[in-house]
Amino acid sequence: MTPARATSALNIILLGPPGAGKGTQARRLVEDRGMVQLSTGDMLRAARASGSPVGRRVAEVMDRGDLVTDEIVIDLIRERLSGDRPGGGVIFDGFPRTLPQADALEALLRELGLRLDVAVELRVDDEALVDRVSGRVTCAACGEVYHDRTRPVPDGGRCVVCGGTNFVRRADDNADSLRTRLFAYYKQTSPLIGYYHAKGLLRPVDGMAAVDDVAQAVATVLDESRTALAAERRETA
Ligand code: AP5
Repeated sequence: MTPARATSALNIILLGPPGAGKGTQARRLVEDRGMVQLSTGDMLRAARASGSPVGRRVAEVMDRGDLVTDEIVIDLIRERLSGDRPGGGVIFDGFPRTLPQADALEALLRELGLRLDVAVELRVDDEALVDRVSGRVTCAACGEVYHDRTRPVPDGGRCVVCGGTNFVRRADDNADSLRTRLFAYYKQTSPLIGYYHAKGLLRPVDGMAAVDDVAQAVATVLDESRTALAAERRETA
């Protein structure tokens, strides 16, 4: 299978606080551009649901809203990146979340002959995050994300993507956990904004806009990056 770096595909990070819309935008990119979404949150929830030893270790930490150890999430990403990658590029959703994770990602990509092209920062006000997280509902079958007020499950209660009828709320989508998750974001994850800015990879996007408008802004960022990458390749050819 073709490694992402060998094509015009981009490898990107979606960076932003809990509820910023990372998962929503990642699913759009998967659908529109054939990219692969690697969400450490989804991987950890799957480990929990499977009852694996890792899943049992992380359950309480996740419900509280704290970060799982770097070692666990880096291992999950290493395992996934070492498998086959389609040509569409990779979206890192919710990873990295600490500076050691960012260093580990860079080393891993280098080992694989890949590189990170863009870190998209979704900027959203804290007040909006509370509303987004407390109203979130997810299709249990396919993971499509809804919101009680802004994107309700359609009449008839069927998921628009897969037709599923079972919808769930996350155990960590409550006021206490959200407070802890926000604190973890500002303390441990927000330093990555400076880190990627210093590397020339940071592209901020207004995450307060409507979902379609955010998607359009992200698409513009990726198209610009792809053009820059093509020019860079021409120069080095
Ligand atoms: P994770 O699953 O990654 O959660 P998170 O970062 O808190 O982000 P969310 O999934 O809550 O939000 P999102 O940005 O994806 O928003 P969404 O698109 O769903 O992590 C969960 C836990 O796992 C962590 O707390 C930690 O314990 C652990 N973990 C995960 N990764 C880790 C790591 N790397 N290291 C250590 N621990 C880790 O949207 C939210 C809602 O808003 C939806 O209802 C949606 O419909 C709505 N919405 C989206 N966009 C818009 C918009 N533009 N306008 C209006 N509404 C919108």
